[in-house]
Order: sequence, then C-alpha cells, then structure tokens
Amino acid sequence: MIVRLARAGDAADIVRIYNEGIEDAVATFETDARSAEQMAELLREKGEKYPTVVVEREGRIVAWAGAGTYRARRAYAGIAEHSVYVERASRGLGAGRAALEALIEEYERRGFWKLCSRIFSENTASIRLHERVGFRVVGTYCRHGKLHGQWRDVVIVEKLLGEAAAG
Ligand SMILES: CC(C)(COP(=O)(O)OP(=O)(O)OC[C@H]1O[C@@H](n2cnc3c(N)ncnc32)[C@H](O)[C@@H]1OP(=O)(O)O)[C@@H](O)C(=O)NCCC(=O)NCCS
Repeated sequence: MIVRLARAGDAADIVRIYNEGIEDAVATFETDARSAEQMAELLREKGEKYPTVVVEREGRIVAWAGAGTYRARRAYAGIAEHSVYVERASRGLGAGRAALEALIEEYERRGFWKLCSRIFSENTASIRLHERVGFRVVGTYCRHGKLHGQWRDVVIVEKLLGEAAAG
C-alpha cells in the first residue's frame, strides 16, 4: 500500500469511493451523490490547510481520509472534523487504518490539536477502526438526524494531537 497526499487529479477516485459510502447509508447523512467537479472544488477550497490523504493498492486509489473546519470560532481553530472512506471491495484489509493513521500524522504536523468525528452508532467497523488508532468515544448524540426517514444516533469520537496529547 502507498499512502500519500491527494492531488487535484484524484477527485474522481475520491468521489467514487465517497459515493459508495453514501449509497451504503452507513457513514453519512448525505444522500445525494457528488460529482468529480464538486470534489475537485472542495479539495481546492481545503488547499494546504486541510489536506486529504489517499491509499493506493496496485496503482489504484482504494481509500481516503480528509478533514475540514470544525467551527468558525477562533478558539476551535486547531480542531478538524474528519472522514474516512474505503471502497467496498477493499474494506477490512487495513486501508482504512492506513488512511486514518496518515491523516493523524499530517494534521499533527500542521499543528492541529484535535481530530473529531461523528459515527453512526451501528457502524461498528468505523468505531473499531477509530479505537484501534487511539480515538476516544466521547458519547452518543441520540436521534441526531434522520437518514431515509429513520432517526439515527451518532457516536462522537476524538483524538488529541501534539501538545494537547502530551498533557
Ligand atoms: C469503516 C471503514 C473506514 C474501516 O476501514 P477498513 O479498511 O474496512 O478497516 P481496517 O481493515 O483498516 O480495520 C481497522 C479495524 O477495524 C476492524 N474492522 C474492520 N471492519 C470491521 C467490521 N466490519 N466489523 C468489526 N470490525 C471491523 C478491523 O478488524 C480492525 O481492527 P483490528 O485491528 O482490531 O482487527 C470502512 O469499512 C468503510 O469505508 N466503510 C464505509 C464508510 C464508513 O463507514 N466510513 C466511516 C465514516 S465515520
């Protein structure tokens, strides 16, 4: 596996994997597939500050992890909210872990002090992955939103980085 920072030309692969996640309805409240153009624009907006990492296997992108602003308030500038997606055919083979570990490293290097995310409470694969790479389960938001008409609970996870992690 090769893990590297995403480039503009990766937008189509990233969106292909993201749209599988949307279709599976296990990972996001999002219901509309995105286009490669929308993803390219998002990557441009995030720029150097909020990098995305991709995992390649045999020359193909099979997973990615990315992050964005947590809240606009200045006090939260060092927190990023992240996502991680693996293509259906490559799940359970370590690509999610590789992507998330690389994301942690990149954001720590850039001076962020926390990564956090919200995971559907049924998504045991994602909760397990996050625990394996050092995330703490903070708690559960009950009935946080509806997906396809059904209430969903989400588990909040966080990982302290850099100086914050040092205590
Ligand atoms: C959740 C997801 C990112 C995990 O990535 P992955 O590459 O499949 O997971 P990995 O192979 O790196 O495994 C990481 C850990 O999770 C565990 N795991 C993976 N799939 C699992 C499953 N279906 N059930 C329980 N544990 C699972 C692995 O056993 C491993 O733990 P271990 O080291 O204790 O064995 C991936 O399955 C995925 O993309 N799912 C759809 C999108 C999604 O849910 N994204 C997360 C949004 S919050």
